Amino acid sequence: MTDQKRNILLTTALPYANGSLHLGHMLEQIQADIWSRFQKMRGHECYFVCADDTHGTPIMLKAQEQGIAPEEMILKMQQEHERDSADFQIGFDCYHTTHSQENKELACKIYSKLKQQGHIKSKTISQLFDPEKNMFLPDRFVKGTCPRCKASDQYGDNCDQCGAIYAPVDLIDPKSSLSGATPVMKDSEHFFFDLPAFEPMLESWIHSGALQPEIANKMQEWFKDGLQQWDISRDAPYFGFEIPDAPGKYFYVWLDAPVGYMSTFKKLCAEKKIDFDRFWDASSKAELHHFIGKDIVYFHSLFWPAMLHGSDFRKPTHVHTHGYVTVNGEKMSKSKGTFIKARTYLEHLDADYLRYYYATKLNSKIDDIDLNLEDFAQRVNSDLVGKLVNLASRTAGFIHKKFDGKLSASIENKTVIQACIDKQEEIATLLEQREYNKAMREIMALADQANAYVAQQEPWKLVKQDETLEQAHQVCSLALHTFKILMTYLKPVLPNLAQKAEAFLNVQLAWEDISKPLYCHEIQAFKALMQRIDPKQIEAIVEASKKEQNVQQAQVEKQESSAVKQDPISETISFDDFAKIDLRIARIVQAEHVDGAQKLLQLQLDLGDEKKQVFAGIKSAYAPEELVGKLTVMVANLAPRKMRFGVSEGMVLAAGPGGKDLWILEPHLGAQPGMRVK
Ligand code: MSP
Ligand code: ZN
Repeated sequence: MTDQKRNILLTTALPYANGSLHLGHMLEQIQADIWSRFQKMRGHECYFVCADDTHGTPIMLKAQEQGIAPEEMILKMQQEHERDSADFQIGFDCYHTTHSQENKELACKIYSKLKQQGHIKSKTISQLFDPEKNMFLPDRFVKGTCPRCKASDQYGDNCDQCGAIYAPVDLIDPKSSLSGATPVMKDSEHFFFDLPAFEPMLESWIHSGALQPEIANKMQEWFKDGLQQWDISRDAPYFGFEIPDAPGKYFYVWLDAPVGYMSTFKKLCAEKKIDFDRFWDASSKAELHHFIGKDIVYFHSLFWPAMLHGSDFRKPTHVHTHGYVTVNGEKMSKSKGTFIKARTYLEHLDADYLRYYYATKLNSKIDDIDLNLEDFAQRVNSDLVGKLVNLASRTAGFIHKKFDGKLSASIENKTVIQACIDKQEEIATLLEQREYNKAMREIMALADQANAYVAQQEPWKLVKQDETLEQAHQVCSLALHTFKILMTYLKPVLPNLAQKAEAFLNVQLAWEDISKPLYCHEIQAFKALMQRIDPKQIEAIVEASKKEQNVQQAQVEKQESSAVKQDPISETISFDDFAKIDLRIARIVQAEHVDGAQKLLQLQLDLGDEKKQVFAGIKSAYAPEELVGKLTVMVANLAPRKMRFGVSEGMVLAAGPGGKDLWILEPHLGAQPGMRVK
C-alpha cells in the first residue's frame, strides 16, 4: 500500500422514520458501503455511521394517524431499517437515532454556540394556522387554487399545473389538508440562522474540492440569487427537541438531523473508545465524507457547513452527491410495481446482485441511475455467473478429481495472473474516486482474458493424457488464482459471494495479498457459489410490490371510509350523544369512480338546501349509475375529513356483511331531501 493510513468518517443520509427503505435508499447505502469496505480493506481507520431521522411534522402526524406515540413508531421503524440495511450487507459501525440524548445535547450545544456568536436572529412572522387542529401548517399541508392559472387543489408552495411558485397565503380559497378547515393567519416569533453571514466562508470552501463540479456550479447560482436567513424554529405541537430558553419552540427537523451524524459517531466513540474530538475539532486532520442524494444538496452544502463553522467544528471533506434511481426508465411507481421496498427485494434475491448492478452503473456524477430490470438480470447472469464464478466452476472439479484438491506448485505462463495484479492501483484509484462503473469494467475485462486463456488451453482435454496432466494442473490453478484476485477486488461490492469464495478457496481475501501466489494450496470442494437470476424472480418482485401497494391502499381506505366499518364491541352511548347526530335524507345526484381507489365511490348528495360530497366505501356493491337518483340517509354533521382523494363531508348509512352484500339505506319514496331522520 502506497498511501499513508487515513482517518475516515463517512455517513449516508439519515432515512426518515416514517417509511420503509426502498431501492432508492439502497443505491446510496450501497455506494457508500462499497467505499467504506474498500477503505477498510486498504487498512485505513474508517468508520461508517447512519441513523434514523425521527423529527418533524410528517412523523408526528403519521404517528397520530396510527394512534400511537411517535416514540413508539420511530422505534419500530428504526428496527426495520436496521434489519433491511444489515441484510443488504451495509456494514454500519453504528446506527442510531436523532431522538437521542447525545443528539439533543449536541444540537443544543451547536445552537447555543451559534447564538452566542450572534448567528441567531429572531423575527415575528405571520403564517397559516389551522384553527381546528390548533397548529401552524407547513406549506405542504395547505391546498387551494393557484393564484396564477386558477388550477384547483394545488399545494401551498407551488402549482404543478403552471409551475408558479408562491407563498401559501397567496392561494385562493386555501384549505388545511389536515382538517379541511380554512386556515387563518397568525403571528409567531421564529428564530433564524444567519446564513448570509457565511457566504464568504462558503465561497472559499467550495474551492477546497469538497463538492462535485456540477454542485459547485449550482452553489454559484445560489450565491447570485443571494442567501436567505434560514428559519430553524417551529411552534408546538411539534415532535422534536425544545429550544433552550424558548418554551413551546422546537428545532426544525433539519437543524438536528445532520447533527445526527455527529451524535451517532459520539455513541460509537463511547463504545469503541475513539477520540471524538480528533474527528470533529476545527483543526481535525481526519476526513469527513457525506453520501447524499441530489434532493438534499442545499442542506449539506450550505446550512450544514455553515452551522459547523459557526460553532467551531470542522467542515466536511467531501459531500458526495448521487442521482435518483429510476426503474425501467421511469420514476419508481407504486401502481406499476416498480416502487420496490428493500425487504421485498430481499425476499426474492440476494443482496449481491443489486450491489453489483448498481456498481456497474455508479460513477462520481449526479446523473440518475436506471435500474432496468431486464438488463439487471442479464448483466448479473452474464458477468457474475457467466464470467467470474465460471472461472472457478469450470476448473475446481479437476483440482479435486485429479490433484488431491491442491493447486500447482508453480505456474509457468503467468501472463494472465500478472495482468490481474498489474491493475491493482488503477482499480484502487477508480474505487477511491467512486468511478465504480469503470472499475467493474476493468475487472470483467480481466475475467474475459482469463476465461479466453482457459478456453484456448482446454484443460478438460489436457487432463485426459498423462503427459499433459501437469499443464492441466497449471491452467486450472491459474484460473483459480485469477478468481482469487478478482474476488479480492470485488470483495467490497460482493460481501456475500466473497465470504463463500473465502470458504471455498480456504483463504482470506486481502488487498495486501493480491500478488501472493497460492502454490500447493489446498482448497475446499466446489459448491455452487451463485445462482443465475430467473426472470420469474423479478416478476415476483414486481407482483409483490403491486400487491403491497394494494394492501396498503385498502388499509388506508378502510380507515378513511366508515360506511362499511363494523364495530364489534358496541359500548352504549348516552341519549345526548345520539341527539348530536344529524341524520338526513339525501338524494344521490352524482356518483363516480375514484381514480386509484379500490373501495370508494365519490357521491354528490343533495340535502335540499345544501350539497355535500361524500366518499363511501360501497364500490363492491354498487355501480355508480345504479345509485344516481336514489334517496338515502346520511350523517350530515360529521366534521369534514381530508382523504387522499378529496374532502369527505359526511357518511352514508349502509347495512350488510360487506362485499357484494351491502345495501345503502333507502327511505320511502315520500321522503324529501333534507328531512331529518328521527
Ligand atoms: N431525512 C432526510 C435526510 C437527512 S440527512 C441529515 C432524507 N431522508 S429520506 O429518507 O427521504 O432520504 C434518504 C436518502 O435517500 C437521501 O439522500 C435521498 O436522496 C435518498 N433517496 C431517496 N429516494 C431516492 C431515490 N429514488 N433514488 C436515490 N436516492 C434516493 O432526505
Ligand atoms: Zn397554476
